[in-house]
Amino acid sequence: MAFIMIDADKCNQDSLCIFECPAQVLQMDSETDLPVVTDDFEDVCLRCGHCVAVCPTAAFSLEWMPADACTPVESDLKLSSGQAEQFLRSRRSVRVFRDEPVDRAKLEKLIDIACYAPSAKNAQPWHWLVIEDPAQVWKLDGLIVDWMRSIIRADPAQAELLRLPRIVGMWEQGIYKTLRNAPHLFIVHVDETWPFGPEDSALALSYVELFSPTLGLGATWSGYFYRAYNSYPPMAEAVPVPPGQKVVGAMMVGRPKFKYQRLPNRNAPRIEWR
Ligand SMILES: Cc1cc2nc3c(=O)[nH]c(=O)nc-3n(C[C@H](O)[C@H](O)[C@H](O)COP(=O)(O)O)c2cc1C
Repeated sequence: MAFIMIDADKCNQDSLCIFECPAQVLQMDSETDLPVVTDDFEDVCLRCGHCVAVCPTAAFSLEWMPADACTPVESDLKLSSGQAEQFLRSRRSVRVFRDEPVDRAKLEKLIDIACYAPSAKNAQPWHWLVIEDPAQVWKLDGLIVDWMRSIIRADPAQAELLRLPRIVGMWEQGIYKTLRNAPHLFIVHVDETWPFGPEDSALALSYVELFSPTLGLGATWSGYFYRAYNSYPPMAEAVPVPPGQKVVGAMMVGRPKFKYQRLPNRNAPRIEWR
């Protein structure tokens, strides 16, 4: 197998692909003056595509990632610092949703973008379970409350610390939903042996949250959902994932009911310079 394909007419021998490779599996062939792979390439390459991305002449292709199949970076679309700052600072946890479902195409687009998030070793370990039916989301909402009740019974001090009696009380009065009446829930699960599951999930779900407003959508983490999932068996029974997988994150998704007018302030950073 060749693994890489170099267009010799386009290659300018600048070695950027070699400098850029995080796994150091490329080297310059002294005879041809073109990049070649090391013996351990197949085992060690992260398949991240940095070599393809960095080549200014589109001379470098991976077998599974030809240069001409990769979207060029459009400089016109680059955000200014001010645009990026507003984009990041205006991200909000949306908790009040319109009572309407979201087209599957938009949900798919969110997941598609989320899969461009960084992941340890470029493992892209995410499996997405989408609870598309709002009635099922409400059922899970009730199970989260059952989980809270079980903590209140088993560990009242801990329950009080998490203010669970207050939440359950509000839920019982019909003035609070743990899943916020969201029409949809994204659940991320990964191979249970993968050590970076929570981090990889958090990053992908952050992409979901950040990209949502561009599609007229909003999202919020559901920490309660995956805490319940991993400690309350009836929840795992209600939404089983394949054997050998563990749930590492969840996010509520829907169309926001309200619009934010200001950027709320946050604490000053705690930094120590050394
Ligand atoms: C790990 C994690 C778990 C969270 N779980 C919940 C949750 O269960 N329910 C909820 O309404 N918000 C949840 N949030 C949202 C936070 O409350 C929110 O990010 C915070 O209040 C700041 O508001 P902002 O996201 O609009 O800046 C969670 C956030 C994170 C990062």
